[in-house]
Amino acid sequence: MTLYDNVKKDLQTSPKKWLITGCAGFIGSNLLEHLLRLDQQVVGLDNFSTGFQHNLDEVRSLVSAEQWSRFSFIEGDICNLNDCAKASEEVDYVLHQAALGSVPRSIDDPISTNNTNVSGFLNMLVAARDAGVDSFTYAASSSTYGDHPALPKREECIGKPLSPYAVTKYVNELYADVFAKSYNFRSIGLRYFNVFGKRQNPNGAYAAVIPKWVSAMIKGDDVYINGDGETSRDFCYIENTVQMNILAAVAPNEARNEVYNVAVGDRTSLKELFNNIKASLIANSIDINVEPKYRDFRIGDVKHSQASIDKATSKLGYKPAYKIGAGIDEAMSWYVKLLSK
Ligand SMILES: NC(=O)c1ccc[n+]([C@@H]2O[C@H](COP(=O)([O-])OP(=O)(O)OC[C@H]3O[C@@H](n4cnc5c(N)ncnc54)[C@H](O)[C@@H]3O)[C@@H](O)[C@H]2O)c1
Repeated sequence: MTLYDNVKKDLQTSPKKWLITGCAGFIGSNLLEHLLRLDQQVVGLDNFSTGFQHNLDEVRSLVSAEQWSRFSFIEGDICNLNDCAKASEEVDYVLHQAALGSVPRSIDDPISTNNTNVSGFLNMLVAARDAGVDSFTYAASSSTYGDHPALPKREECIGKPLSPYAVTKYVNELYADVFAKSYNFRSIGLRYFNVFGKRQNPNGAYAAVIPKWVSAMIKGDDVYINGDGETSRDFCYIENTVQMNILAAVAPNEARNEVYNVAVGDRTSLKELFNNIKASLIANSIDINVEPKYRDFRIGDVKHSQASIDKATSKLGYKPAYKIGAGIDEAMSWYVKLLSK
């Protein structure tokens, strides 16, 4: 039995009340599914700006009626303090995911990104502090490593941000730290590295690379690689991300008020990723014959990214159960079903 297995068993025996902000989004809806399967009570807060009712409907179809009855949803905005306060009432653990993601979006519209990711974040901290929650786990980002060249990325060595989005995610860490010092508030920041999996939106200008390419390959559209294809990332399957959120929420005090990388500790180039996705689609009987087209590097992107997961392993007992290949294969059947209708 891993620590994660034990934590899940304990939660089932003594269920808690959780708040997931951004629960209609990709990561939030996967957290929701897991927590309901563990018979937890969950409040969700979302304004559907980038999330979808159909993500919630899918979760509903995957859990029992009794498990679903433990979920209550508030359609609201983290930029509104009252919505945050209402959602935080009597909550044990907050998993704060709501934000406007995407580096290019933040370059196009830094004000909206800042409003949601900084002012909204601060509202959630205040609401959670005032509600006396036991812990506050929030989605930080690997973009905080910015221009620091070291590989693998260790939590203590960060560079200067390369985008407005990265600034907002770093400010989250600063606020969380100051709340610990000023109010004895307990939080954990999770620096996600390119998370992927089912319910990640494949559509729109700001879609992430994996769903965007899967969608393009299935539809027969062009697939673009920004740069020479050697750009690399530490792609992290959603199951690993869910594990980290649950471990972080229940972590002992000595592991709190810290930030942790959430990744696998591997590095995959975009060329390798392309071949991996193509092979997985072929294994799913999708007939594709596509080669990537190359274009310029994207402003704000870092060239290489790979995490050290030593801190998460030693302080939180994190053990990623999925490498990129297994994650892609599992996510692919979901995408094939969705996109080949
Ligand atoms: N997916 C990744 O690879 C990745 C990497 C690093 C960090 N993150 C962070 O993880 C979190 C979740 O990302 P995701 O990939 O699930 O994105 P997502 O867009 O699918 O989910 C975000 C959710 O937040 C909601 N939301 C946005 N603004 C809101 C507001 N003002 N009030 C209430 N709800 C609001 C959206 O409607 C959406 O449902 C974000 O904080 C993101 O910055 C994600």
